This record gives sequence, C-alpha cells and structure tokens, in this order.
Amino acid sequence: MHKVPIGVLGASGYAGRELLALIGRHPAMTLAFAAAGTRRGERAEVGDRVITFAATEDAPLGDAALVFSALPHGESAAWVGSARAAGAKVVDLSSDLRPGTGLAGAPAVPYGLTEVARDAVRGADVVANPGCYATAALLALAPLAARGLIAPGATVTINAASGVTGAGFTPRRDLLFAEVAEDFRAYALGNTHRHASEMRAVLASFGSDADLVFTPHLLPVARGILATILVPVAELPHDVLAPWREQYAGEPFIEITDEAPSLRDVTRRNVMRLTARPVAGVRRPMLQIIAAIDNLMKGAAGQAMQNANLVLGLDETMGLPS
Ligand SMILES: NC(=O)c1ccc[n+]([C@@H]2O[C@H](COP(=O)([O-])OP(=O)(O)OC[C@H]3O[C@@H](n4cnc5c(N)ncnc54)[C@H](OP(=O)(O)O)[C@@H]3O)[C@@H](O)[C@H]2O)c1
Repeated sequence: MHKVPIGVLGASGYAGRELLALIGRHPAMTLAFAAAGTRRGERAEVGDRVITFAATEDAPLGDAALVFSALPHGESAAWVGSARAAGAKVVDLSSDLRPGTGLAGAPAVPYGLTEVARDAVRGADVVANPGCYATAALLALAPLAARGLIAPGATVTINAASGVTGAGFTPRRDLLFAEVAEDFRAYALGNTHRHASEMRAVLASFGSDADLVFTPHLLPVARGILATILVPVAELPHDVLAPWREQYAGEPFIEITDEAPSLRDVTRRNVMRLTARPVAGVRRPMLQIIAAIDNLMKGAAGQAMQNANLVLGLDETMGLPS
C-alpha cells in the first residue's frame, strides 16, 4: 500500500511525540521527518524505526505531503507558511491560526473541531487544530447552541482541570513535582486564559450570544481534562441527553453516558465522554455538563490525526485508538 509521507515540527514535545506514535502505527502514513528545537540530533522510536530529530530549519518540508506543526504559539505560523510554500498541507496544533487567538494578519483557515467542522476540514490545505480546553468545552456546547437552547444573553461557566502535560515540556519551577503533587489550584484568573478567547469566538460562530467565564485548574496528574460546564438554558430538554445523543449519533469518538465521566475513561483514547443533568435548586433552568478528554489525544494529536485523515481523503478513524 502506498503510504503518505508525513512531517512533524515540534516532534520532541508532548504533542509531537504523541503524533509520532500515531504516525508509527498508522496503516497509510510514513514518517518523512521529525524536527525539534534544542533536542535536534536526539533519537526516538517511531513504530519499529529509530529516528533522529532534524533541526527545524533543516526539515525537508517538501518531502512531506502533510506537516503537523506542534510548535509553540508565536513560532508556528511562519513554519506553516514555509510548509505550504514547499507544497505540503498542514495541521497546525498551535493557537496561531485559531479564531479569537490567531496572530494579526494570519490567514482564515478551517477550525478543526472535527465533529462540527468535518466538511470544511475535508480537503483543506491548512487546518487550525483546536486548543485542548476548547475542544472539551465546544464539543459539549455545540449541540445546545445548534438547537438554540442556550438562554439568550446567558453567562456560561466553564471550570476545567488539566493534567500537567497541558503546559508543555519546557521546564518551569511552578510545575516541579513537589509544587504540583498533592495540590490543586486555579490559574489564569479573571477569564484571561487564551482558550477563553478561542471558545468565545467559536461559540459566537455557532450563533450563541452567551458570555463565557472560563477558569482553568492545574490537576496533579500527567494527562487528561475534566470540564464542568454550567449553561443557563431557555428550557430544559425533555430528555436531558437528547441534544448530544442526536447530534453525535454514530460518532466514533464521542461517548454520551448516564454516569459522570472520569479521566480514567478517556486517557490515551481519542474520545470525549460526556454527561449532563438538569441543575436542581435554581430559579432559572440550567444544565450541568461534565466532559472528559485526554488533552494530548482528543485535545491535541488525536484530533489532529482525525483532521489529517480528512485532509488527505483517508478514513477519519484511521490509525486512531477508539
Ligand atoms: N500539551 C497539550 O496538551 C496541548 C494540547 C493542544 C495543543 N497544544 C499545542 O501544541 C503545541 C505543542 O505543545 P506541547 O505541549 O507539545 O509543547 P512542548 O512539549 O513544549 O513542545 C514544543 C516543541 O516545539 C519545539 N520548539 C520550541 N521552540 C522552538 C523553536 N523556536 N524552533 C523550533 N522548535 C521549537 C520544541 O523542541 P525542543 O524541545 O527540542 O526545543 C518541542 O519539540 C503548542 O502550540 C500547544 O499550544 C498542546
């Protein structure tokens, strides 16, 4: 079988290494190159091969049909341009091209929230892969927005906790084991996290005028995001899970459950698992949604692979653990 050559920029990072592992077991992809920054020259296993990280500036971009950019925001957009100029399609995992957070002058490209944007992603030249928190929140909110169920003028409250890989591989004192273990804290207080702008912009594109208050938390585990979302609704659905069950019927990577999901249900899997309840004891109707994803899989490399498969005209589920 002809295999499609794939390049990875930022291959030595958390998301990049996850991408390498997915490419290594993908039946229709082969690794064209893996590039790193400071860790250029280091070796890594990809499937049954041992590869050496190239320097980013030496990456043979033109050898790849598709390039994943897992570079930090601010660094990525220029390399997306270089990869395009070399003839490769690109899935960009950074925030540089996303709605609400894109760099000034960045081109408008499809936002790869795959289950919502499949038609725009299929065959696109460049896809902006969503942020990890934004993936959990927006997949949870999309069915309510599509049905006009979010109360007009409402404030949606999103509290979400992420494992420490969400902060990337670069060493930071506040992320040392002794600073994180056996503790739990909020950060980006005051609705200032970059993903709040991304979520706001995309929710508006879904036709909702809701305000959004997002408080991220640092959870002392390696990976996983659990989001608790409170949504004032115009009316409670008769069957509370019906909006999600209807919208995501047949979706291979969305699991709607009666019980509250936990990180154990989703880690190392490319799924979002979700439940919802009506909120008791409040004067106006409100839904509480609990959504769980693996930040490195459905929140990064897994969703990026779904998008890459669509861009390349392959089966969307190819090479992905369910
Ligand atoms: N971690 C997550 O949960 C997650 C989820 C969704 C999206 N994302 C996004 O995915 C991207 C990668 O995130 P990550 O967590 O994997 O970050 P990371 O672990 O810090 O990795 C960053 C990668 O970029 C390389 N790099 C950094 N600066 C560079 C430069 N100036 N030139 C060339 N290469 C450079 C690093 O190489 P060296 O280490 O060799 O220097 C490394 O390979 C980010 O844009 C992030 O926002 C991450």
